[in-house]
Amino acid sequence: MKNSIIHKISFFLVAMAITITGCDSGDVYPEDNKDEGADIDVTLRFKLTNVEAFPTNYKIVFGSFNDDISYPISSKMISAPADDEEISVSLNNIPDNATYLALYLVQEHSNSKLYPFYTYPIVGELTEDIELPLQTIDLAVFGRVQKQVFSQCLQCHGGSGFAAAGLYLTDDKSYSALVNVTAKNNAEKKLVAPSNILNSYLLDVLEGHVLQNQHSSLSSLKDDDIVLIEQWIKSGAKDE
Ligand code: HEC
Repeated sequence: MKNSIIHKISFFLVAMAITITGCDSGDVYPEDNKDEGADIDVTLRFKLTNVEAFPTNYKIVFGSFNDDISYPISSKMISAPADDEEISVSLNNIPDNATYLALYLVQEHSNSKLYPFYTYPIVGELTEDIELPLQTIDLAVFGRVQKQVFSQCLQCHGGSGFAAAGLYLTDDKSYSALVNVTAKNNAEKKLVAPSNILNSYLLDVLEGHVLQNQHSSLSSLKDDDIVLIEQWIKSGAKDE
């Protein structure tokens, strides 16, 4: 009896220790990487626009990557900035198998890559510290909308050929199928009306005001997804 309590307490302490160290460093990946890579620092400075679309159900990391690996090899997580604040982040463990550095939107738990806001190829061997040029990163770009949100719609909207309501949300077709196109289910609204969220039927669907039964299976949809679409439409629904 006593033993099992001690067991439980020590398990709890170990779990706490893991959690604390896990949160403490921004590094998402094991410390082992540290000794393998070149001993250099790469610093990225950037400003964000459309900060309202800073993710809370996803993460933004600055990290090293390789196209064959679906998550960052080494990375640091970016925290939400105060308005207009310039952010500076340094990465000091760059494993030999990394082929590029990037500011990447990743899934919250699996760290799977979703959308790269900025990439910087690693050419040859890194021998000295690098300061990357200052970047302005728009958080509400269409490329992100596609990867983060529309990837959840493809089973019914064109992924396998069939497109409900004739609406294709695949990479190649989604933009022209949505922007300034009249909704089939509401002749008074566009699916996406640039800069006009009230006249954008896509939001009515995502917020569950209409066609709820057809979209009840969309349990993967997160609050962030709607905020992102809103912000993208508010800032003009541009194709970039
Ligand atoms: C399980 C299948 C399914 C999934 C997944 C799904 N939809 Fe749909 N969607 C439908 C069906 C069916 C309709 C057609 C309803 C009708 O016209 O009666 C529809 C219609 C729509 C319409 C209205 C089109 C128009 O012109 O009136 C929009 C907008 C839409 N879906 C957006 C989305 C988005 C965005 C996603 C992903 C976040 C999504 N849907 C995921 C089944 C689905």
